[in-house]
Amino acid sequence: MTERIFIGVAWPYANGSLHLGHLAGCYLAADIFARYHRMRGNEVLMVSGSDTHGTPITIRADQEGITPAEVVERYHAEFLQTWERLGVTFDLFTHTNTENHERVVHDIFKSLLEQGYIYTDNMLLAYCSGCQRFLPDRYVEGICPHCSYDRARGDQCDQCGRTLDPQELIEAQCILCGGRPEFRESEHFFLKLSAFQEPLLDWIREQPHWRANVANQTRSFLEGGLKDRAITRDLTWGIPIPVEGYGGKRIYVWFEAVIGYLSAAVEWAANSGQAERWQDFWKDPATRSYYFIGKDNIPFHSIIWPAMLMGYGNGLNLPYDVPANEFLSLESRKFSTSQNWAVWIPDYLERYDPDPLRYLLSINMPETGDADFSWAEFVRRNNEELVATYGNLVNRVLSFTYRNFDGKVPEPGDLDETDRQILAAARAALDAVGDSLHHTRFKAALGQAFALAQETNRYLDAKAPWRAIKTQRQEAATSLCVSIQVINCLKVILAPFLPFSSQKVHGYLGFDGRVEAESWEFEPLIQAIRGGNPLRQPAPLYTKLDPQTVAAESERLGTPAV
Ligand code: MF3
Ligand code: ZN
Repeated sequence: MTERIFIGVAWPYANGSLHLGHLAGCYLAADIFARYHRMRGNEVLMVSGSDTHGTPITIRADQEGITPAEVVERYHAEFLQTWERLGVTFDLFTHTNTENHERVVHDIFKSLLEQGYIYTDNMLLAYCSGCQRFLPDRYVEGICPHCSYDRARGDQCDQCGRTLDPQELIEAQCILCGGRPEFRESEHFFLKLSAFQEPLLDWIREQPHWRANVANQTRSFLEGGLKDRAITRDLTWGIPIPVEGYGGKRIYVWFEAVIGYLSAAVEWAANSGQAERWQDFWKDPATRSYYFIGKDNIPFHSIIWPAMLMGYGNGLNLPYDVPANEFLSLESRKFSTSQNWAVWIPDYLERYDPDPLRYLLSINMPETGDADFSWAEFVRRNNEELVATYGNLVNRVLSFTYRNFDGKVPEPGDLDETDRQILAAARAALDAVGDSLHHTRFKAALGQAFALAQETNRYLDAKAPWRAIKTQRQEAATSLCVSIQVINCLKVILAPFLPFSSQKVHGYLGFDGRVEAESWEFEPLIQAIRGGNPLRQPAPLYTKLDPQTVAAESERLGTPAV
């Protein structure tokens, strides 16, 4: 039975290039998941977009002396290119500065307001008399009242993950001048989160499949008691409030960004020419919605967005799962844009192919705990795993066959026990990897796929067709044909992780069209490889990297960009 899968992926701020931390945090996992489900024949809608509002954008614009719109335009275009080059296959990657998004945001805002889930009240806002301005939440730093972390920001604490208001911070400071902000009254709109405390607790209890990190953070957040939150700010960049008399204020970026998941589906449907199609993904209770995000975004997706959806009603689906990843560090240090301690994806792609990076960040995904990226590991895994285990397997089988069997799949004879075993292993791997991916266990899935590649290498070592061909040509033909059948399975199993390589293998095996159109099923994959089928001239899938790469790349780190 085909399933319907909605995949929402965190909306990156369009204020700078994407780095490996972003990719490891959510984009890669989401793409692997989407590719897998598409190959399973399921209907997938994967959306995200540039988060174009909020202080991250205005800070950047101020720094460069350009408008926020100019900042957004530059990075949105770059993001689209990055997805294309990395093979991250969004069905729609839009941005939050569209009319469609504003309309959907206004609709939800007004509905919540009419139902009493949004109300106005006066609030104290940080005002810096030194700078003579109201300070956005992120411009205030201080000690977290929950965990005592001393660099908590006015919107959130990076240590305990709790969302905050600036006045909760102990010893608050203005990050622009270091002065102590005063708190002045200003009228704002509030989301009545407190009304959802019980419904959310009930709902969370029905989500036993959530990852432990997500479940724990969500539960402790709820147990602390939900407080109503201001969802507007004294700003001029952002979505206007759909009520007369609030011209100098805007809707808070977080409140509207999460609505992007819905507005993007609406936009996608309109683009497809079937304007109501978004409802299949949002109103059919059988559709499962997954939100791929980094761990710093958990409460917004496991509490605030679900509360907004509950309040809005209209039968919209709540998240089925929020498979948040933990953090990736770089050479054991936290990524830092200001210190240029980062590997920028556009920069990486200037020098290397996408698949080796996709491989490394999948096998070492910060799935259930933090992970580290180092160039030494990148080079080692590229050479010892990608090249040695998989690339060489494909290359030695295909080029030997191509040379010795006239560019065709050899006609197999009777299969023996060893042949049957390796085919059974391929069948089992399709199931096992599928099961792991179904449960968003990406590291495990890739490990299982590579175990099959290793087993195939052992099979080949035992059969040694390069020797057998001299005396027992039929046996060599059989083991090569079986190996090619297993490679045809590996091509599919690895396609969600290594889409560019799988496409090449698909071509070497003599097929036209896209590897994405292949199905995740053993029998058809074996049947497709028949004696006499023409192959195409193969070439190595991957390049071995010089160990000197490590030093050269380490040199680049931390040098301020010019
Ligand atoms: N732009 C924000 C961030 O990068 C929020 C992303 S998720 C969203 O942290 F759904 F809220 F947009
Ligand atoms: Zn100040």
